[in-house]
Amino acid sequence: MHINDPKLVAAIGALGVEYKQNISLAEKTSLGIGGTSDLLIIRKHESLPELVRLLKDSQVPYRFLGGGSNVLLPDGELPWTILQLARQDPDVRFEGNSAWVDCAADLGRTVTRCAKQNLGGMEGLIGVPGTVGGALRMNAGAYGTQIGSYVREVLVFRAATGKIETLRGAEINFEYRHTSFAPGDIMLSVRLELPSKPYSEILQGIRICNEKRRASQPLNQKSAGCIFKNPPGGSAGRMIDELGLKGHSVGDARVSDRHANFFVNAGHATAADMLALIADVRNRVHERYGIELEEEVIVWKES
Ligand code: EPU
Repeated sequence: MHINDPKLVAAIGALGVEYKQNISLAEKTSLGIGGTSDLLIIRKHESLPELVRLLKDSQVPYRFLGGGSNVLLPDGELPWTILQLARQDPDVRFEGNSAWVDCAADLGRTVTRCAKQNLGGMEGLIGVPGTVGGALRMNAGAYGTQIGSYVREVLVFRAATGKIETLRGAEINFEYRHTSFAPGDIMLSVRLELPSKPYSEILQGIRICNEKRRASQPLNQKSAGCIFKNPPGGSAGRMIDELGLKGHSVGDARVSDRHANFFVNAGHATAADMLALIADVRNRVHERYGIELEEEVIVWKES
């Protein structure tokens, strides 16, 4: 979506927001899929309420994109202008067992930065790609760890009020790959409270998780991690594997040979290819097991 109104462009610039035209979003996603749009890069969190107000007043539809690692964007020209947060400097600040982390910070780097302060607990999250904000939105988890367990406070732009608010403790609900944040909320920074642990012990945990991940997941291919959530008590990857679907493809969208719940872009896959593969695999799982798999990857649709 292009912003055609020069007055709006000037007002956006006056807020210190960077305006980039006609950006290829495939390059901003780990799947390497996505069309083009204008991009607004927010340097100061305080400018967000006014920016959103301007866009709404001008009836410019927008969507917020985080690290792009768990999302499937449409092909062609997108019907939204894209908002992204610039990383703050510094992006992590420590106070005892608390780490205040900027939501645009890389999750893996944050885990190691905390480790160097002898703050552990998040070892399992080490290989999860994306930003801290993205991990928060989905309550990212791996190897028995979920980020939500360590969250104490979140500074968030609330879609409902158009204001920046602080949410604490029980005001946020974290479940398996789901949180109580509204779809339009934008997480800005978070206070994590982490257990003290010697650096060497944390490193050992990180190494073990990295090895497990390397052995079971297609890390050197373009993917969005697991495509489906695991159904209660079950494993989407095992079911898809049992159906013999590893290597099954639509165009260049392919079920990974390594982990059947990872669908990879093996070349020039389009969103249409990936959506067709998702629908096909979901139908086959439903036919065989009577289970309706739910997407874990966030699919951007016009609503
Ligand atoms: N399995 C197969 N074939 C496959 C893949 C898996 O038989 O192709 C079997 C495994 O042998 C194992 C079981 O299925 O017995 C579960 O597999 P795995 O340990 O790989 O875990 P998962 O349930 O498939 C979940 C998360 C991953 C996370 C890992 C490690 C979900 C949807 N997936 O995968 O998270 O990295 O556990 O903790 O919850 C993600 O969210 O994007 C993601 C990759």
